[in-house]
Amino acid sequence: MAFFRGRRAEVPKVDLEHLPRHVAIIMDGNGRWAKRRGLPRRAGHAAGAETFRTIATFAKELGLEYLTVYAFSTENWKRPKDEVDAIMRLLEKYLHEAIETMARDKVKMAFFGDLSPLAANLRALCRETEEISKGYDGCQVNICLNYGGRDELVRAAKAFALDCVEGRADPCHLTEDAFGGYLYSAGVPDPDLVIRPSGEIRTSNFLVWQSAYAEFYFTDVLWPDFSKEDLLRALAAYQNRSRRYGGV
Ligand code: IPE
Ligand code: IPE
Ligand code: MG
Repeated sequence: MAFFRGRRAEVPKVDLEHLPRHVAIIMDGNGRWAKRRGLPRRAGHAAGAETFRTIATFAKELGLEYLTVYAFSTENWKRPKDEVDAIMRLLEKYLHEAIETMARDKVKMAFFGDLSPLAANLRALCRETEEISKGYDGCQVNICLNYGGRDELVRAAKAFALDCVEGRADPCHLTEDAFGGYLYSAGVPDPDLVIRPSGEIRTSNFLVWQSAYAEFYFTDVLWPDFSKEDLLRALAAYQNRSRRYGGV
């Protein structure tokens, strides 16, 4: 059996043959990380973007099939414009880099969320990365951008209703699987493990439908401080859970 042992002794063993297929992360705590250092919030977002690079690369090395990250929620528009602008600039920078390295890493990227309110150049970058991804079959990274779980469900309900009105679907035959096909995550298996750093014990409108049977892992570590060892801790905790799905 293949095991991964982290550098620090206290990091538990992770069985690489029984990894969750899909890990989702609420990348939270950037603002508090910056505040503790007397830095502006945007410095926290920049540090968080670095952590995302490290964790996404590590997830691929470990052999995870899907990594979904919450980058910007439908509620995050409430923040001051300069903070929102700083986050969007970081995303743009990341996507430029990703386009450079995707061919080497064979990482697929997809976006969950309504991209229409984003600046045209950022939207074009998202489309370009998705287009390039079509040629790859490696680890798939889903970036939730202007994403809200309830918004996703309402959009899916609308799209399904329209299909019914136009005769493409029949409400009497709607199944959970078929409804899942109307979500941003269509074709992606549900997350097995949802990780939230930063000490908050809530899901903040993340993957409302998809995480119905996910295992949750909460940690006080702020996202910019989240390390490979922290991911291993979460994976080890997951491997100690008993997933019963209502059975015995
Ligand atoms: C997460 O960090 C990043 C986004 C929500 C875009 P926060 O900015 O929410 O950090 P805290 O929660 O204020 O520390
Ligand atoms: C959730 O974090 C959204 C992202 C990490 C993108 P928030 O910081 O927005 O969530 P709340 O406000 O603590 O619920
Ligand atoms: Mg937060």
